[in-house]
Amino acid sequence: MQSVYFDNMIVGVLALQGAFVEHIRYFHDAVKEGKLTHYGIKFVEVKTVEQLRKCHALVIPGGESTSISYIAERTGLLGELRDFCSRKPVWGTCAGLIFLSNQIENGNPGQKCLGGLDISVVRNAFGRQSDLFQQSCNFSLFARGLSHFRAVFIRAPVVNEINVLQPSREVVGPATLSANGITVNFAAASEEPVKVLYALKGGLVVAVRQGKTLGTSFHPELSGDSSFHGWFLKEFVIPGARIPAQCQSQTWQVE
Ligand SMILES: *[C@@H]1O[C@H](CO)[C@@H](O)[C@H](O)[C@H]1NC(C)=O
Repeated sequence: MQSVYFDNMIVGVLALQGAFVEHIRYFHDAVKEGKLTHYGIKFVEVKTVEQLRKCHALVIPGGESTSISYIAERTGLLGELRDFCSRKPVWGTCAGLIFLSNQIENGNPGQKCLGGLDISVVRNAFGRQSDLFQQSCNFSLFARGLSHFRAVFIRAPVVNEINVLQPSREVVGPATLSANGITVNFAAASEEPVKVLYALKGGLVVAVRQGKTLGTSFHPELSGDSSFHGWFLKEFVIPGARIPAQCQSQTWQVE
């Protein structure tokens, strides 16, 4: 039985560079396959501040993290993206995970990050020999039913440190550190701690979550399987749906 139609959710995919078309296609498949059509979620490309402001959640795709950072800066999106990350659900894949971090261990000169996740990352962490590989991963500890997910890694980053805070000129929160008599304030991306969702053999961290922010170093939009996108919608996007007033008094059921 489907009795509610939520026509209020827009998921944006940052479309400055990289694999944004694939994400949108996988979301459409996930909606069909996960029987989520009654939520009326729309998926849009985001290239401008105006488009971003209409979104309830955002995906930052894989691509080239330096280019995404430069284009975001040039188009005046950087500040707006940082603000968005502090308030709404965001998922970064591969280059998107790098862009979402607080610190890039081997970043290019001038490469910026958004500070949406209190982590440090290493770009191209697997070396030239393993530019591209895929692996079946059992994600069922955090995503029900995803016990054989084909994760595709392309010049993938890894998370090399978690709970790395960002130096801030503003006084934020209670976290202060005294070094040489100077008080430096550190800003946390969220009240929530960073949780490691998945690590490969050898402990390489490839999926993390901090509250409503998700980062994966692999490309679920190239796996041939939309179930990871479905999980993101159910776990991060749909819980934020406002139930239209006319529906609040009705009994309603979702699958
Ligand atoms: C996946 O992990 C879960 C939880 O640890 C376990 O119960 C299940 O048997 C695993 N499935 C596969 C296919 O390895």
